[in-house]
Amino acid sequence: MANLLATKPLKVVLDEVHETGEHSLRRALGPTNLITLGIGAIIGTGIFVITGTATAEHAGPAIIFSFIFAAVGCVFAGLCYAEFASMIPVAGSAYTYGYATLGEIFAWIIGWDLVLEYAFGAATVASGWSGYFISLLGDFGIKLPASISGTRWDEFIYYRNHWEPVKLVMPKLQAAGIDPGSLPHAHGAFNLLGFLAIVLTTIILIIGIKESANFNSGIVIVKVCVLIVFIIIGGNYLLKHSGLMAQNWHPFIPPNAGHFGEFGFTGILRAAGIIFFAYIGFDAVSTAAQEAKNPEKDMPIGILGSLVICTILYIAVAAVLTGLVPYKTLDVRDPLAVGIDATGVRWGSLLVKIGALMGLSSTIVVMLLGQSRVFFSMSRDGLLPRMFSNVHPRFRTPWISSLTVGTFVAVLAASLPINVLDEMVSIGTLLAFVIVCAGVWVLRRRNPGLPRPFKTPMVPLVPILGILISFSMMASLTGITWIRLAVWLVLGMVIYFFYGRHHSRVQQSALEPRR
Ligand code: ALA
Repeated sequence: MANLLATKPLKVVLDEVHETGEHSLRRALGPTNLITLGIGAIIGTGIFVITGTATAEHAGPAIIFSFIFAAVGCVFAGLCYAEFASMIPVAGSAYTYGYATLGEIFAWIIGWDLVLEYAFGAATVASGWSGYFISLLGDFGIKLPASISGTRWDEFIYYRNHWEPVKLVMPKLQAAGIDPGSLPHAHGAFNLLGFLAIVLTTIILIIGIKESANFNSGIVIVKVCVLIVFIIIGGNYLLKHSGLMAQNWHPFIPPNAGHFGEFGFTGILRAAGIIFFAYIGFDAVSTAAQEAKNPEKDMPIGILGSLVICTILYIAVAAVLTGLVPYKTLDVRDPLAVGIDATGVRWGSLLVKIGALMGLSSTIVVMLLGQSRVFFSMSRDGLLPRMFSNVHPRFRTPWISSLTVGTFVAVLAASLPINVLDEMVSIGTLLAFVIVCAGVWVLRRRNPGLPRPFKTPMVPLVPILGILISFSMMASLTGITWIRLAVWLVLGMVIYFFYGRHHSRVQQSALEPRR
């Protein structure tokens, strides 16, 4: 039993990083760079797509409260991430922190759980990306057959010579007085564009990209500008049409529809669990701890700064969006475009779609890269087969890891609907938060003397609040999502007990387990 808690000595972790040249001692990042890094990783499918469904099906205009609640949970968890990141200054992830501090079994659970964050996350973003792409193609008169426009859970109606998603075409049919039952119906089979988005990104990652800081900053500016333009155009329209917002915001908290999670207080909570996805990515800031000029001061500024900026943008977007159109009409794949369409500004919709496509592409890259790095580390530690840490002789990238992850994620994106993917990402990432918050608290008691360049303030209050808020968001998600999480974790345990435990390099070198 004690072996399960074997830890990987910090010195070994740091030496390995030096070996692979991953480690850069150059402390070049100031607070602004860290905030930009965070915003680049955070803004994505969450605000551009998932906000629509969460508003239409769960919270109504009160989605604003959901955004605030999820942000508060992220702040607490973010502060805990930052302590780990500064203690174990590698460009790793919660997996590495867990291995060096909590022990192998926890590291495995976190690593396996991170697949939900990164791999399922990449699939979710690709699914959102395909929604915007299909919508953009539609603007140019290009309509795809239903079979390759969505998964088998997505329903389409044949209207005016094209297959249109049911949710999108229903209002048009109602307005025209057409009975939807009189038109042909079909289901999707394979989300081809989501699949292709992952295939292309995987090829780029295998060939190797020079991560350019300028390119990243460019994309961040595009994403933020698109949201600001949305707020300005929409806000201006609302100012000119006084009364519209009051009408669409009534009732602000739609009464509960009789089930947990369908409007009312529980709806706000479930929507928080769902749109929590929109905040994922700020851990990118914590993983840059070793490159921060002054981690003690700059890490909280980077984490809190990027979260605060995104929270303000998200709340403003949600307020304008729910003010422009009735919340029930937002259950579509391009809700921000629907919102801006309501203002009649045609170029606004085009701008939102192109901005979303560019912004989401960079989020897919970040997530796929994160996943293959985690697999690479797990394989180097012997917990996954050695081939996952093979580096391509020419491209110098972990190509088998990237190829395996890419294939898996492309199939996920092509075959599962966005809401199933999103809930898996949320529950998996929230579980990682719970473990990280608990880890900070446990380690403060167990090893109070470890050097901590950044200390989470008010321990144990902050970790406890992080755990409570994360757990309440997990609890608000559907029962089937919990079952899927349990199945995923059991599968992980089976792999660990049949493979990882016997091949673990830490176990083989018979290192003394930490007390
Ligand atoms: N927060 C990222 C997004 O919304 C993952 O796409």
